[in-house]
Amino acid sequence: MDTASTPEEEKVAHFLVDAAVWAVSVHNTQPWWFGTCGSTVTVHADADRRLEIADPDGREMLISCGAAVYTLRLAVCHLGHLPDVRMLSDPERPGEVAQVGVGPPYSPTADERQMYPQIRRRRGHRGGFRPGGLPAGLLQILRAQAYAERVSLRIVADPRARIALAALTEAAEQIQRRNPVYAAEAARWAPASGGDRPDGMDGDAYPRESARIDPHFAGGRDFARGQGWGRTDGERQEATGVVALLVTDQDGRADWLRAGQALQRILLCAAVHDVAAAFHTQALEMPDLRELIRTRFCDGACPQMIMRLGVAHVEAGGARRSVTELTRGEL
Ligand SMILES: Cc1cc2nc3c(=O)[nH]c(=O)nc-3n(C[C@H](O)[C@H](O)[C@H](O)COP(=O)(O)O)c2cc1C
Repeated sequence: MDTASTPEEEKVAHFLVDAAVWAVSVHNTQPWWFGTCGSTVTVHADADRRLEIADPDGREMLISCGAAVYTLRLAVCHLGHLPDVRMLSDPERPGEVAQVGVGPPYSPTADERQMYPQIRRRRGHRGGFRPGGLPAGLLQILRAQAYAERVSLRIVADPRARIALAALTEAAEQIQRRNPVYAAEAARWAPASGGDRPDGMDGDAYPRESARIDPHFAGGRDFARGQGWGRTDGERQEATGVVALLVTDQDGRADWLRAGQALQRILLCAAVHDVAAAFHTQALEMPDLRELIRTRFCDGACPQMIMRLGVAHVEAGGARRSVTELTRGEL
């Protein structure tokens, strides 16, 4: 591989990484670093930032890396080029996830043009949504976005299934909170004092546990673990929103990376319409509960994310590590 990069290529690679760092990631672990060679960016999974207890197989780590891959793809489109994507699966180099290069000239679609500015604007949400449904036709559009990545977005319309999923989420949250090993891991990424994390991220990047909604979805995770620190979302009338599962046919590395790309694509498309997602993945981190959800709610397909979608009160904030810290020249 030619390692001499022109300043122009380096600028492009910097621009691409500067977008990719805003991808969604479990506990905001940002479990990645980026290798650059010319304008080509290689996404590497950073196993030191994997949740050892909650994510022993690296499923959530690779979903997060997939989200970064999609963001790179969209940023290349924004520059007026087709992304040249190679998914990497060398067993000798398991950390290498994907290479995204700048392909031939391309005119971005209207969707892509609208989604690009959402990369930095999009925020995850916790707690309830504004009453009233999603904009007409949006769910169909989001399902098509997922389908384009060969992933399914299944809407949980049956009220009994929603209640059951909320109960499983609550059960998983309670089990994890009471297990010192899970609790210690959560504390590493969200210090109970509300202070800064060891990697310099602001503890207040996480909102306080939010108001109760019905069915109760454990309000996201209680990152404050009962301490009450963090941003407050105030008192207001709130709705559950649309409950949805992101599922794949199989359950391997390639599927997790596809799920991550689909997830980020859905989130950016939803953000165009001021729709945000709240995530509830606790139950999927517990093998027994995940298996139950797979067989009872996914017709045997593999659940990768549980989320609620709704029109959100706009949230400020969002913090990421710097591009310089995350970028290395690729050998
Ligand atoms: C695989 C995965 C699992 C996640 N699980 C949860 C969750 O259970 N609860 C939650 O509140 N957020 C969850 N999130 C969202 C992240 O915490 C969030 O993306 C991160 O804190 C960064 O915030 P931002 O998306 O607003 O930029 C998850 C994200 C990913 C990619």
